[in-house]
Amino acid sequence: MPATKIVVNIPGEDAYDVRIGPAVLDDLGASLRALPGVGAAPRLLVVSDDNVAPLYLDAAKASLNAAGYPVSDIVVPAGEASKSLAVIGEVWEAMAQLGLTRDCAVVALGGGVVGDLAGFAASTYMRGIPVVQAPTTLLAMVDSSVGGKTGVNLETGKNLVGTFKQPSFVCASTSTLATLPEREWRCGCAEVAKSAVIDSDEFFFWLMDNADALAARDEAVTAEAIARCVVFKARVVSEDKTESRGVRECLNYGHTLGHAVESLAGYGTYSHGAAVAEGMRFAARLGAALAGTPVELVQTQDALLDALGLPALAWSASPEAMLSAMKRDKKARAGVVRFVLPLDVGRWELRDVDDDVILEHLRAWEASK
Ligand code: NAD
Ligand code: GLY
Repeated sequence: MPATKIVVNIPGEDAYDVRIGPAVLDDLGASLRALPGVGAAPRLLVVSDDNVAPLYLDAAKASLNAAGYPVSDIVVPAGEASKSLAVIGEVWEAMAQLGLTRDCAVVALGGGVVGDLAGFAASTYMRGIPVVQAPTTLLAMVDSSVGGKTGVNLETGKNLVGTFKQPSFVCASTSTLATLPEREWRCGCAEVAKSAVIDSDEFFFWLMDNADALAARDEAVTAEAIARCVVFKARVVSEDKTESRGVRECLNYGHTLGHAVESLAGYGTYSHGAAVAEGMRFAARLGAALAGTPVELVQTQDALLDALGLPALAWSASPEAMLSAMKRDKKARAGVVRFVLPLDVGRWELRDVDDDVILEHLRAWEASK
């Protein structure tokens, strides 16, 4: 299958390519050599995690070495806990001890955790050196590797410290997805569904037709889903790079209730994707009650999520506990909970919803289960 190239053009930033295909990791070195800046880097640092490194670090380094780059690597423990001040401190120290200079570059080889951590390290070390994203999860290919959000977590909450740092290149090697565990696959599928509902009829109905194939990891359908998500995300980010114009927030569809589910059930009980899918189901119902969202959308979205292996959760919590968890989320402003409501496929609005209205709809949602 040939590789696809999508150009991400964000005002005020250098344009960058996203290459999607089974063998693009083998061409990583040659791709970087062709870039202005990174092309002449005297050393590259690959950051990966201890699940991904045994599988793909050698291949990545072989490609970079073949293009003549000296390469160092840092491997962090897999998992969200590595997006911490302690681990970022270790990465900064390692970068300094390796003698990385401002003309060096970082390659993030892994899922969204590695991408956010390595992106944050690159954007802060010596006030910023280039970063290349080489995503290896479906979620990272369809969402986190594009658009430039980086960050680490604090004890108080997720992603509370971070930067916007667009990558110089994104290398989405779809052959790496062969080893992705099923739970992580479904996390990526939830973000694909989110993008399709927010983007357009065209994407949504394509995904309805291809949901079974995506759930079964059909290669051509997967590559097309990634490409469609990248085009969608690039458009959103080009309109609102720093989430300050009320546009980029659409990417949080499903996340208001989703984050509350993750935190109340205990992180790791449900995957992020399963929680986001639950949040999409609730937000569509809230939209139907408050904003005229067609009932057909609620139903077709339910069917889509079911087909992608993201069934409604059997779990429930008290509406009061869910509301307080939503208020603790960093997206809540001055204690007011904000939802992305789908008005229809391809149309959405941001809505501050009063506590009593949320409670009423959470009660109805619980009663309907
Ligand atoms: P992850 O990076 O933790 O990866 C999930 C698991 O899969 C890990 O155990 C990892 O080691 C393993 N893995 C990765 N690639 C693999 C492969 N090819 N084969 C086998 N195992 C593999 O999680 P994720 O879902 O990719 O990313 C979640 C993170 O992304 C969160 O920290 C979230 O905050 C962040 N995020 C960032 C953005 C953004 O715009 N920057 C957007 C969405 C999510
Ligand atoms: N995934 C959210 C964003 O990039 O804005």
